Amino acid sequence: MKHVISMRDLAKRDILLLLDLAGKIEKKELRPDLSDKVAALLFYEPSTRTVFSFDTAVKRMGGKTIQMIGSESSSVKKGESFSDTINVVRQYVDLIVIRSVIEGAARYASEILDIPIINAGDGSNQHPTQTLLDLYSIQKTQSTLSNLHIALVGDLRFGRTIHSLVYGLSHFGVTFYLVSPRHLKIPDYIRNDKSLANIKFIESDNLAEIIPTLDIMYVTRVQKERFADPVEYEQLKNSYQITARLFKEHPPKENFKILHPLPRVNEITTDVDSTPYAYYFHQARNGLFVRQAIIANLLGAA
Ligand code: CP
Repeated sequence: MKHVISMRDLAKRDILLLLDLAGKIEKKELRPDLSDKVAALLFYEPSTRTVFSFDTAVKRMGGKTIQMIGSESSSVKKGESFSDTINVVRQYVDLIVIRSVIEGAARYASEILDIPIINAGDGSNQHPTQTLLDLYSIQKTQSTLSNLHIALVGDLRFGRTIHSLVYGLSHFGVTFYLVSPRHLKIPDYIRNDKSLANIKFIESDNLAEIIPTLDIMYVTRVQKERFADPVEYEQLKNSYQITARLFKEHPPKENFKILHPLPRVNEITTDVDSTPYAYYFHQARNGLFVRQAIIANLLGAA
């Protein structure tokens, strides 16, 4: 691997290698050394988990970071192009992590620069490092990635974590239950993708009914920032709400876990946090080990 841009680019062996590295880093069996490396974090869109976990990942391995969070304090504000910005930043660093609202921004960077590029989310397209930490979380909680029954709940249309996850799990014989409002269904380019022929997609409008079947429920936020029409957002924003009561009335399997890439708004009530099913904060922590593994691998340190 030279870059991490899309889950479509990663073979099953790449995924398993990165998850194995992450496990060794978490157990402290592997301590990659980045003491002579600097990474740039260019975040044109807001972030909490992704930017902080990348920053921490580099620093825990002895490396350093430079950061642009938003474009207000950089020369982007003066009109400097994306291309010029990344060409200049490249002069100072060994690796660039990019989050952009523009789909394909990280891919473009990987095509014009000669250092590793990591896509930290490009519009509604892909968020591959989120998927790798999701897969790590699934593997840790289920002891396997194979033949699981997973509900994808919420915004399946604009949710880049959903799009990435579908491609990431396509190597492992998964059954997906798609639970979303009609306007937020998974895009046709994914449903009709022949490379995903081994995935079973089942549409469901009755979340309660499928709970006893599930190993994982992957919940996403309805993303206000992706809607051109604020009225449409208002109509859809509370389409689903996962509550502790739901699981009292419809007991899940013992291995069942709830994942969410976060941030959450109203889609999981806080009373779920204290149930044995909530895994989303552990999931965020797993991002640290997985991002350490990705960076170390790309920089030849693991
Ligand atoms: N999951 C995720 O990408 O969170 P942030 O937007 O806070 O980085």
